[in-house]
Amino acid sequence: MKPDIFRKHAHELVEWMAKYMENVEEYPVKSQAVPGEILSKIPDKAPLKPESFDSVMKDLDNIIMPGITHWQSPSFFAYFPANVSPPSILAEMLISTLGAQCMIWETSPAAAELEEKMMIWLRDMTGLPPEFEGVIQDTASTATLAAILTAREKSTGFSVNETGVNQFDTLRVYCSRQAHSSVEKAVKISGIGSRNLVRIEVKDDFSMDSAKLRKAVSGDKREGFIPACVIATLGTTGTTAVDPLREIGEICSEYGIHLHVDAAMAGTALILPEFQWMLDGREYIDSFVFNPHKWMFTNFDCSAYFVRDAASLIKTFEILPEYLKTRTRGKVNDYRDWGVPLGRRFRALKLWSVIRSYGVEGLQVKVREHIRIASRLAEMITAERDFELLAPVILSVVCFRYKPSGLTETEINRLNEELNHRLNDSGKIYLTHTVLNGKYTLRMVTAQTNVSAAHAERAWSLIIDTARSMTLR
Ligand SMILES: Cc1ncc(COP(=O)(O)O)c(C=O)c1O
Repeated sequence: MKPDIFRKHAHELVEWMAKYMENVEEYPVKSQAVPGEILSKIPDKAPLKPESFDSVMKDLDNIIMPGITHWQSPSFFAYFPANVSPPSILAEMLISTLGAQCMIWETSPAAAELEEKMMIWLRDMTGLPPEFEGVIQDTASTATLAAILTAREKSTGFSVNETGVNQFDTLRVYCSRQAHSSVEKAVKISGIGSRNLVRIEVKDDFSMDSAKLRKAVSGDKREGFIPACVIATLGTTGTTAVDPLREIGEICSEYGIHLHVDAAMAGTALILPEFQWMLDGREYIDSFVFNPHKWMFTNFDCSAYFVRDAASLIKTFEILPEYLKTRTRGKVNDYRDWGVPLGRRFRALKLWSVIRSYGVEGLQVKVREHIRIASRLAEMITAERDFELLAPVILSVVCFRYKPSGLTETEINRLNEELNHRLNDSGKIYLTHTVLNGKYTLRMVTAQTNVSAAHAERAWSLIIDTARSMTLR
């Protein structure tokens, strides 16, 4: 593709992008495609001869778009968001145009140094301790894996990397029953093993019961286990429960355990002074992750990982083949040593664009509004006699169910599952579920970049009308 043709298509594409943003609400939020539908429309063999970009775009509209779930629709209330914003999209365009592979400082000094500075901005915006250093990871799952691997090495005198995990089948990791599944995945990958993941019971508000953590850790110590890492969650996936950091931190400090904090979603709320309470006990944290790609309007993927002691992280991951030896080594940050992948995208550019375009105050306004919408939704739910809230509403997640009188718990569960499917099949809104104390729970997240109070109110009317029109089959 010659530059002139590229220019023509790029202009057309920007038009397509702007129109998509303007019209995103016209699509069914959750793709209505059935399994295999898209697959059957794509030729089995790659084309031998070149095709025009116009034909690619035609197929994008006809084949691909029906199979897209519209995460950027303000009626997307499912999972946690993967928000984008215009400044972030523009930066993504620049990132792919530059196509820089930013594995070490020398492969693009600006990428390494912008990343260093962005991590300082984010650290200070979220109120993390000033001695923390940060690195961008692809996802929170990778960051938590990095934390658990670092903890494994620290607790075994940095020997498992060399000798293998065999003689250390007594390492233990702790998290609450509500912690994200990425913890279990990391424990498996690290060789610690999922049977050495101890899941601590939660209290009524779904936060970790620190007294039970203390009991588990001291019991394990007595029996000869090595407590290596505790993962505290700020903002659990199910209900955004906040684990008591100070109480957990005191236990970690007493027993010399690495404390990793998973704040994948809730970390963004730390830019609000009124949510700084979540970080009470920050002095005990060893590592911390949050995802600007969730709630800070930065295109997926962009996960901010902070550590108190970068030397331990680097010692865990460092490897030095001949072709990566440079004259600047030790004087600059070579981020390939700060995590699993060697190759790295220039992600700092989108953070730079987003933070500068919104300003910290602009980000605060948006996040605060999302939290306000959730609390208003909670009021509306509480006002209805046949609905009930199932968890405290702390941030932008509202957990509830339809509970008409005269039904058993099993029937109520079935009814809510059916309600969830009907709502999603309508294409008007998209929400997902969790199970809390055996109760099938509808979960509405009011944190999509462009969600407004009006969107939440319309969604709520649809939920009430659909629920009340249902009879149990
Ligand atoms: C609390 C928590 N931690 C970790 C993750 C995993 O995030 P990622 O997709 O960035 O790996 C999620 C995903 O929603 C989450 O809710």
